[in-house]
Amino acid sequence: MPPILEVTALRKAYAGGFEALKGIDLTIEEGEILALLGPNGAGKTTLISTACGITTATSGSVRVGGHDTVDDYRAARAMIGLVPQEINLEPFERVQNTVRFSRGLFGKSANPALIEKILRQLSLWDKRNSQIRELSGGMKRRVLIAKALSHEPRVLFLDEPTAGVDVELRRDMWEIVAELKRDGVTIILTTHYIEEAEAIADRIGVIAGGQILLVEDKDKLMARMGKKELEVQLSEPISEIPASLISDALRLKEGGTALIYSYDTKSERTGITKLLSEVAAAGLVLRDVVTRQSSLEDIFVDLVHEGDAP
Ligand SMILES: Nc1ncnc2c1ncn2[C@@H]1O[C@H](COP(=O)(O)OP(=O)(O)OP(=O)(O)O)[C@@H](O)[C@H]1O
Ligand SMILES: [Mg+2]
Repeated sequence: MPPILEVTALRKAYAGGFEALKGIDLTIEEGEILALLGPNGAGKTTLISTACGITTATSGSVRVGGHDTVDDYRAARAMIGLVPQEINLEPFERVQNTVRFSRGLFGKSANPALIEKILRQLSLWDKRNSQIRELSGGMKRRVLIAKALSHEPRVLFLDEPTAGVDVELRRDMWEIVAELKRDGVTIILTTHYIEEAEAIADRIGVIAGGQILLVEDKDKLMARMGKKELEVQLSEPISEIPASLISDALRLKEGGTALIYSYDTKSERTGITKLLSEVAAAGLVLRDVVTRQSSLEDIFVDLVHEGDAP
């Protein structure tokens, strides 16, 4: 079976010549959840709209379920659901009609039971007869999600689906994503909430300056890039690290109240026992020791900063 999404050497230059995508290669297998992380202006929305065939690529190609998004647009687009970053709804239309109509646009026959299920899932059932303009911002975002699901897509693109929504909807969204995954739907989402990627993604892609910096299995990424830190708090502050302790892994906390030791999560030997005996031998008295593990957020910040380097 071909991969469900295949992006090959994709480039996009906007009118005026600005190159927002500089050769993107990305393969996604059916049923996985990929979170795309990247700073503002990285090219995430451009990548999604090009992948959906809404924006035309300058060169390269995108295939969805084996269908080219340019040569075979209708077949490719029918497989895709898109929740755009910008809210673009007809203000006077009613919620239920908006979602029904969206299904019809894809040539699918009416399915009131399905529309009801989607509206209930998104806590919009009570609002089904409200006009869009009567909804709050978070509710409008739910309508966008309902529309994207209305034609039963096999691949769902979510462009910042939880931007500006409350914690409860964010959790509901994660639950919906998990349910869709159980049905075999492939999901590509962008988010600025890194804990969201940490919570729901199988793989993480990092994009900056129109290029993919990395795509990797989340657990492997966290194991590979994750570092632990041990903070050795001292009973008396010191002004510099004693000469006998100096190493690349050790730094002095601001104010001199603690030594911070970084070590690899995957190495067999952490060096902690040795460090602690050397600390004692140097005549330092411990007050407490605390460990910290780097989060996906720390890893992401490091990666994007590396990307800035010339
Ligand atoms: N229609 C357009 N015309 C010209 N330049 C554009 C257009 N749309 C986007 N760009 C530029 O392309 C780059 C990538 O924009 P894009 O919207 O893809 O970023 P993004 O990663 O989605 O950012 P954000 O996190 O802010 O949503 C930016 O520099 C942006 O200014
Ligand atoms: Mg965007």
